[in-house]
Amino acid sequence: MTATPASKVLDRVLVLEMVRVTEAAAIHSAKLIGRGDEKAADHAAVEAMRAALNELYMDGTVVIGEGERDEAPMLYIGEKVGCAIGKGPKIDIALDPLEGTTITAKAGPNALAVLAIAEEGGLLNAPDVYMDKLAVGPGYPAGIIDLDKTPTENVHAVAAAKGVRPDEIIVCVLDRPRHTDLIAELRKIGCGIQLIPDGDVAGVIATTNDDTNIDIYMGSGGAPEGVLAAAALRCVGGQFKGRLLFRNDDERGRALKWGITDLNKIYDLEELAKGDCIFAATGVTDGSLLAGVKRMRGGGLSTESVVMRASSGTVRWVKGEHHKL
Ligand code: FBP
Repeated sequence: MTATPASKVLDRVLVLEMVRVTEAAAIHSAKLIGRGDEKAADHAAVEAMRAALNELYMDGTVVIGEGERDEAPMLYIGEKVGCAIGKGPKIDIALDPLEGTTITAKAGPNALAVLAIAEEGGLLNAPDVYMDKLAVGPGYPAGIIDLDKTPTENVHAVAAAKGVRPDEIIVCVLDRPRHTDLIAELRKIGCGIQLIPDGDVAGVIATTNDDTNIDIYMGSGGAPEGVLAAAALRCVGGQFKGRLLFRNDDERGRALKWGITDLNKIYDLEELAKGDCIFAATGVTDGSLLAGVKRMRGGGLSTESVVMRASSGTVRWVKGEHHKL
């Protein structure tokens, strides 16, 4: 039997199958919302996502996700998933079974189960280091944001293109001590700053949603989350720039292991998620993108998910009711 071209399989089967995978991770981790145990919540999501991925007819490879084999027992970078290894279409997978482990433990907003897939070679294969991120939603001229420019220059460029004053721009930033200087610079301009405790996949995607009022995402966070957010922006529009950040020689060595030689490279959307790709997410807790998992009157659970595809630009919102759990 000859292997099916990945694009055909992305087309026919995997789009909605991806929602089953993120739903499974969300449902299992949701049992631990507000229980103060980040590890248990993450573990539940990882196990459920892995089991769901292993039911799919594909020859999948995790290219960025939970970490390296020595530190992540499941869904580590390079792990093969799917029930057709060596036979099925070769698929790259970026994942974060529980994006927002602390949020989940504290019952805060915007925790998601999330993944992206692409044809082999389509997603950045990298260790789970930090990434400097800069993003805007759709409708701006190409090249409006630039990681080599200062936050002030980027805010001014976006404000001019939007036709507003720089102090009318709203920027989303992860609330971290490492962002003290960035926040001070934005305060000097007078920007509105939405400080988020965690969850920068939702933070980046918020730039594409007028209801959030967020114009720009800025600051550093996890590289897997950067690839996931880039895959989403490939589907709905917007611009994203990312640069991997290495804190020590071990991280630089890990990058080389995965074939990254230019350690200062600024990645564009297409270099993080190229070709056809699919992004799927299910809400674990309520957030700006999705409602969280809810217990229904009379039993069962409800879920809300989104699945998007780059080649068609289709965005599907999927409400699930799960009566037999
Ligand atoms: P996890 O819950 O998957 O660990 O990620 C939460 C998160 O806030 C991401 O959204 C973000 O990219 C990253 O952590 C930032 O890392 P740090 O907490 O080390 O600043």
